[in-house]
Amino acid sequence: MEVDVNGLAVVVTGAASGIGRATALAFAANGAKVFAVDVNEAGLAETRAMATNGNVVTHKADLIDPANCAPTIDAAVAQMGKLDALCNIAGVLRIEALEDVTPATWDFIYGVNVRAPFFLSQAAMPHLLESNGAIVNISSATAFRGYAYVTAYTSSKAAVAHMTKSLQAEVIKSGVRINAIAPGSVNTPMGTGGSGGAMDKFDMDLFVRMMQIRPGSPPESYTDIILYLASPQNQIIRGAVLNVDDGMDAT
Ligand SMILES: NC(=O)c1ccc[n+]([C@@H]2O[C@H](COP(=O)([O-])OP(=O)(O)OC[C@H]3O[C@@H](n4cnc5c(N)ncnc54)[C@H](O)[C@@H]3O)[C@@H](O)[C@H]2O)c1
Repeated sequence: MEVDVNGLAVVVTGAASGIGRATALAFAANGAKVFAVDVNEAGLAETRAMATNGNVVTHKADLIDPANCAPTIDAAVAQMGKLDALCNIAGVLRIEALEDVTPATWDFIYGVNVRAPFFLSQAAMPHLLESNGAIVNISSATAFRGYAYVTAYTSSKAAVAHMTKSLQAEVIKSGVRINAIAPGSVNTPMGTGGSGGAMDKFDMDLFVRMMQIRPGSPPESYTDIILYLASPQNQIIRGAVLNVDDGMDAT
């Protein structure tokens, strides 16, 4: 597939780590201007230093606060002069037994994983309508089956999948393309742990079903498809949620 992102102006959230960082660096290496957003300032500085051509500008924002979403897009457009693509990659996971999930945890997961991409998309849309641009969201292979101890997360990722389709439906007469990918297990801080609750409570027969059979993949495995979906070369994939999961959904 021919992919040309040279000169595109792109917002990437979650750019301090994992898939977001890999995506920001891939856009930058291919000539795009990247407005890299995250709550983790130190991680953002590392990402900026890793981009050797100066194409990454960083912006600290806590996206759980919806009041930070529109100003983030405004700052990106002020910096880059236009907006061609929004990649909603920031996300959070908590693995907890049913009785341990609090309303605060639920709101935390939905605030970052669902509300932030929605209000970023809302603020970005006038600019994307002007540029015939694109939105790329990150759902998850876990969105499409039942998995124990992650109901808030998996349902938030199912919401991302549906949001992708409904937003695309709303702008279907325009040139804007809105898609999501659904990764399997990715070797990032989120994918390799650190998000677990009281594991002694877990029934391991149920817990292991969340592990895919093939080994986890590096975050760089996902950047080609994200760049393609964000690029003007993609004109036929709209409102899709693509399984990019190394077979997790098939097994
Ligand atoms: N790792 C996996 O196995 C996997 C699988 C499927 C989908 N995903 C999804 O991929 C996306 C990226 O995850 P990752 O694996 O790279 O995780 P990661 O933890 O490496 O990166 C997530 C980034 O989001 C940022 N973030 C979290 N809360 C934020 C907030 N309130 N405001 C701004 N930024 C915030 C974090 O600081 C971090 O830099 C997520 O949406 C995740 O749900 C991951």
